[in-house]
Amino acid sequence: MMKIFVGKNYEEMSKIAAKIFIGAIKEKPNIVLGLATGSTPIGLYKELIRAHKEEGLDFSRVTSFNLDEYVGLSPEHPSSYGYYMKEELFDHVNILRGNTHIPDGKAENVEEYCKVYDEMIEKAGGIDIQLLGVGENGHIAFNEPDESLSLGTTIVKLTENTIEVNSRFFESIEEVPKTAISMGIGGILKAKKIVLLANGEKKAPVIKELLNTDRVSTKFPVSFLLLHPDVTIIVDEEAYNG
Ligand code: GLP
Repeated sequence: MMKIFVGKNYEEMSKIAAKIFIGAIKEKPNIVLGLATGSTPIGLYKELIRAHKEEGLDFSRVTSFNLDEYVGLSPEHPSSYGYYMKEELFDHVNILRGNTHIPDGKAENVEEYCKVYDEMIEKAGGIDIQLLGVGENGHIAFNEPDESLSLGTTIVKLTENTIEVNSRFFESIEEVPKTAISMGIGGILKAKKIVLLANGEKKAPVIKELLNTDRVSTKFPVSFLLLHPDVTIIVDEEAYNG
């Protein structure tokens, strides 16, 4: 079942999402969170930092797993998702660094590493809440539209569109890696609860399609969320109305 909340603007969208995450962390202090990167969750992370600083929200027993990372980038690279997570969340709350997991873009044996990543999630008890953004082409994590989609964590080839859209986080488009490690669709659907955020008019076509389709398609990866029993979609008015 999909629930939808429409915030007036980005700030309101972020606050609605923060309420869910703050409530969940308070209810289960040793929660396992699935985390996402990109522009969309920054406001949510700011709210979580505020709740930690002003209300003492405790991350000391929280575990996290991130959705994806570019192949070839170490967490020291300013465009890596490892770097992003430190800057936008981890450095500002009391989460233990050893409890945070981000796919290793420098892994030597990527295939083996992907299996280990999924095993680590399982050993942690599975993801309680998975945060998601969505690409303009309907990708979730880096599961790009394709003939088939991977169930488990895997190495993926990024589409031209994604490389172009994400080049804003790099000095030039040539610097954007062509491949990434991404959790698979099966891994995402294993999360007990999913919270998808989308803001801005560029996401409006994707949100419209998602809310109006009754078909799943590998060409529109976000449609697989229709198979999950507990999905909350939080958007701003621009993403809702276009
Ligand atoms: C990126 C990430 C996704 C993210 C999506 C949307 O490429 N791999 O995890 O959700 O695209 O990004 P943004 O929030 O910047 O629009």
